[in-house]
Parts: sequence; C-alpha cells; structure tokens
Amino acid sequence: MDLSGKVAVVTGSGRGLGLAYARSLAASGAAVVVNDVDANAATAAVEQITADGGRAVAEVVPVGSTEAADALVSRAVDSWGRLDAIVTNAGVLRDKVLWKMSDDDFDTVVQVHLRGTFTCVRAAVERMREQGEGGRVIVAGSPAGQRGNFGQTNYAAAKAGIAAMVRTWALELARAGITANAVIPVAATAMTKTIAAFAPHVEALELEGTAFPDSLRKGEGFGTPEDAAGLVAFLASDASAGITGQCIGVGGDKLALWSHPQEVAVAYTDGGWSADAVAAAWPNVFARSEQTYGIPAPQL
Ligand SMILES: NC(=O)c1ccc[n+]([C@@H]2O[C@H](COP(=O)([O-])OP(=O)(O)OC[C@H]3O[C@@H](n4cnc5c(N)ncnc54)[C@H](O)[C@@H]3O)[C@@H](O)[C@H]2O)c1
Repeated sequence: MDLSGKVAVVTGSGRGLGLAYARSLAASGAAVVVNDVDANAATAAVEQITADGGRAVAEVVPVGSTEAADALVSRAVDSWGRLDAIVTNAGVLRDKVLWKMSDDDFDTVVQVHLRGTFTCVRAAVERMREQGEGGRVIVAGSPAGQRGNFGQTNYAAAKAGIAAMVRTWALELARAGITANAVIPVAATAMTKTIAAFAPHVEALELEGTAFPDSLRKGEGFGTPEDAAGLVAFLASDASAGITGQCIGVGGDKLALWSHPQEVAVAYTDGGWSADAVAAAWPNVFARSEQTYGIPAPQL
C-alpha cells in the first residue's frame, strides 16, 4: 500500500493499536503525527518509527477538547504542509455496572472517545475541505458499541455514538470526497489485559512471545495490534476510495463487515397501535424476531 505524500494523525498512538496503526501508515510512506497523553510513550513511538525509516513527530496532548484537536491538525500542517487522514483511536476504560458508575466514570469515557472523536474529526475535516482533495476519516468503534457489554455503559454508549457519527459523516462528507469508516478491532493490548478471559493470553504474548492458537485468532478474531493495522493503512489509501459509512471488524485472522441496525420485523394496524394491540401482536409477530445482545463470552 503506497501512502507516500500523505500525512496522517493517529490519536493515542504511543502504544497498543494506535502505535501499530502509526507504524503501518509510516511503513507505507505516510508522515505521521503521533499523539498520546503519555509523553514517554509518544516519544518512544516516534523514535521507533524513525528508526524504521519512517517520518513521525509527537504531539502530546489529551484529546477531547477543541484546543487539542486544533493542535493536532496544526502539527500536521506545520510539519508537512497538509493532512490526508485522521485516525481517532485514543481511549480509556472506566468499567463499572450501571449502579456503581459515577458521573466522572461516565464523563471521562465520553470525553475521550465520543467528544475526542467529534472534535478531532471536525478539525481534520475543516482542513481537508480547505485542501479540496478529499481525505480519510478512520475512527475506532468496538464490539461493545455494536452490541453492548456488561459493565460498559459509558464505553458502549461512546462507541455506539461513534458508529452513528460515521454513518452521518459518510453522508455529509461524500461531496468533498472524504470517506468515513469505523474500525472495530479486537487485539491484545493493555486495554484487553483487563478482560479476565484474555489476560493470560496477553501476558503469555508479552512474556514469552507465545503465538495465539487458532481458537483465538480465528474463533475469537483476537490477535496482536499489528494484525489490525493493515486495515487502517488500506482505509487511508486511494485503494479504499468509495468505501464509506462502514463498520469493519478486524482481529487476529478475521476481517468482517458489520451490518447497520435495521428493522427485522414489521406489522401494521389501522389507526395506530394501542397497548393492547401491541400485547396481542407481540407473541405471534415479534417474539421470534427478538435478537441476542451483548458480546458473547469468549469460548477459549
Ligand atoms: N484492544 C481491543 O481489543 C479493542 C477492542 C475494541 C476497541 N478498541 C479501541 O481501540 C482503541 C485503542 O485501544 P488499545 O487497546 O490500543 O488501548 P491502549 O490502552 O493499549 O492504548 C490507548 C492509548 O491511548 C492513550 N490515551 C488515553 N487517553 C488519551 C487521551 N485523552 N489523549 C490521547 N491519548 C490518550 C493511552 O495513553 C494509550 O497509549 C481504543 O479506542 C479502544 O476503545 C480496542
């Protein structure tokens, strides 16, 4: 994938998936603004990319605010004169069941994921529209945002909101030649180390470099951050022109296209639906179409 001449910003790219995305973009020839709230991680990422022969600069700022988003776009333009792709990947978890989740737990996750995606993409799109040469918006969704997940009211809401924004932006940005897609990754990172079923595998990978078995790589679509990075380089490239508004799952050996929500059962009654009419219709018409929800527990 040839990205030479292109400039990309990747938020939260000091480690984990973001680092793999930044390295993949740089290896394909793009110049990359590495962003992270952790200055040491951002600096190390830039050193790693540069040592590999790539081009990168660090912008250490917590994404969420408009000021941070503007700083990222300015850094790209000041360093390399343009911006072609924004990858909003920065994220945090504050998992709690609903009745134990504080306002701060909710607001922190929404601030970084949902607001951070909104502010960064808005700033990037302003620049891309000025350039008039199209562009690429690549955001990070999650299986939790597609289906819900126990203990993740804040995170599921933010990620579902991100998928909804992508569908909206695909409409709004089409005329400017800017595509907008969500990557729905699953990978071994500091974040997934907090999930009990995956933790031993993530630790084995870190400590012993133990490769994941097929039951993980194919069965669960769970692999390394590098496994997910090719999709981001593809979406940043000219080869993905015309692909927009999609949620694309990637992890381990698996690549998947997610459906959008749609009606699965419909009935009509003249004059509208009374409560009694709904109750009468439900068992016959709708009950068999009720869908499962929540991320299935990993079968390891
Ligand atoms: N790992 C998975 O399986 C998985 C699954 C679904 C979605 N995701 C999403 O992918 C993205 C990356 O996840 P990861 O697993 O690599 O996590 P990670 O915790 O390994 O890395 C996240 C990075 O974001 C940085 N960060 C946090 N808040 C920030 C902020 N306000 N501004 C800038 N940087 C900030 C962190 O310092 C860290 O370097 C997240 O959006 C996450 O929700 C990951």
